[in-house]
Amino acid sequence: MQTQSLSVGLGDRSYPIHIGQGILARIGKDLAEQPVGTRYAIISDDNVAPLYAEKLTASLTDAGISSELFTFTAGEEYKHSGTVTELARKLAAQGFDRGDAVIALGGGVVGDMAGFLASIYMRGIPFVQIPTTLLAQVDSSVGGKTGVDIPEGKNLIGTFYQPKAVYIDIDVLSTLPEREFRGGLAEVIKYGVIIDKPFFDFLREKREHITSHDPQVLMQTIKRCCEIKADVVEKDEREGGLRRILNYGHTIGHAVEATSGYQLIHGLAVSIGMHKVTELALKAGYTQQTTLETLDELLVAYNLPLEIPAEMDRDTIKGYLKTDKKTVGGQIFFVLPEEIGKVIITDKVESNDIDHVLHKG
Ligand SMILES: NC(=O)c1ccc[n+]([C@@H]2O[C@H](COP(=O)([O-])OP(=O)(O)OC[C@H]3O[C@@H](n4cnc5c(N)ncnc54)[C@H](O)[C@@H]3O)[C@@H](O)[C@H]2O)c1
Ligand SMILES: [Zn+2]
Repeated sequence: MQTQSLSVGLGDRSYPIHIGQGILARIGKDLAEQPVGTRYAIISDDNVAPLYAEKLTASLTDAGISSELFTFTAGEEYKHSGTVTELARKLAAQGFDRGDAVIALGGGVVGDMAGFLASIYMRGIPFVQIPTTLLAQVDSSVGGKTGVDIPEGKNLIGTFYQPKAVYIDIDVLSTLPEREFRGGLAEVIKYGVIIDKPFFDFLREKREHITSHDPQVLMQTIKRCCEIKADVVEKDEREGGLRRILNYGHTIGHAVEATSGYQLIHGLAVSIGMHKVTELALKAGYTQQTTLETLDELLVAYNLPLEIPAEMDRDTIKGYLKTDKKTVGGQIFFVLPEEIGKVIITDKVESNDIDHVLHKG
């Protein structure tokens, strides 16, 4: 199957996204033709490295490119500045300098942290993204947000730092745990709701192809998500306005995710958040019943959750809502769908209405 490419247009910081099958094995050749650095520090976690690092390293070696692999323990709880410092020390010990580059091989945790490291190591060296989860392929690897967590909140330390290239190999999704794949699909559906009704309909039509990992359809799906993300980022790189639509489902989603103690994975929490905020849009008179029904039908078709687990403490959720990073001057902003494919951003929502939807269901 042919590799497809698109570009994120950000002037002299523009970069390509390549999507296809068997891309891992071809990266060496590509980087030999279009080098990003002299040597490459491959950063990965201890789930992904055993699966894919060898293939990547072989591809680089065959192309005459030298690289070193650095791994850390998988999981959000390792996405902190301590891990970044440890990695930086290892790079320094191996003599990596400003002529070299970082490759992030993994999910969003690896991408965020390796990107952050690249943005500050020796005041910034180039980096390449090789996302290996569906979430990272359709969302986190594109757009240049990097960062780590602190106990006070997720992603509170970070930079905007764009990669030099993104390589998406859909073959790696074959080893992704099913729950992670489903979580990624919530983000995929998000794009349809916020901006692209025809894509939403495509997801309805192609459900079986997508859930059975049909390569052609998966590629089309991932490509469309990357196009939308690229388009939004091109128009609003630093989230001054438009980019905030990508937070649809995330305000309530994050609060639910945090309340679960991060036991509920991000994408599944976002699915609940999308359902709940659409209920809110309905309650507050911004949309019609059919919008909610259409959304719910698709989420359910992909086996995604709608309701906040009954045992979850509503006041804790509310507490997190108020301290969300996206809260500005104490006001909670919500991304509300007016219809499928069209959203508005507003802080004009009654707190009774928020209470109502949090307690419902
Ligand atoms: N920068 C952004 O714009 C942005 C956007 C959304 C999310 N994020 C961040 O992304 C992170 C979540 O990313 P994620 O969902 O990819 O989680 P993750 O990186 O933790 O990956 C999920 C799990 O899957 C494993 N894994 C990854 N690829 C695999 C593969 N191909 N086969 C088998 N196992 C594999 C990982 O080791 C991990 O255990 C969060 O930290 C979030 O803050 C960033
Ligand atoms: Zn998300």
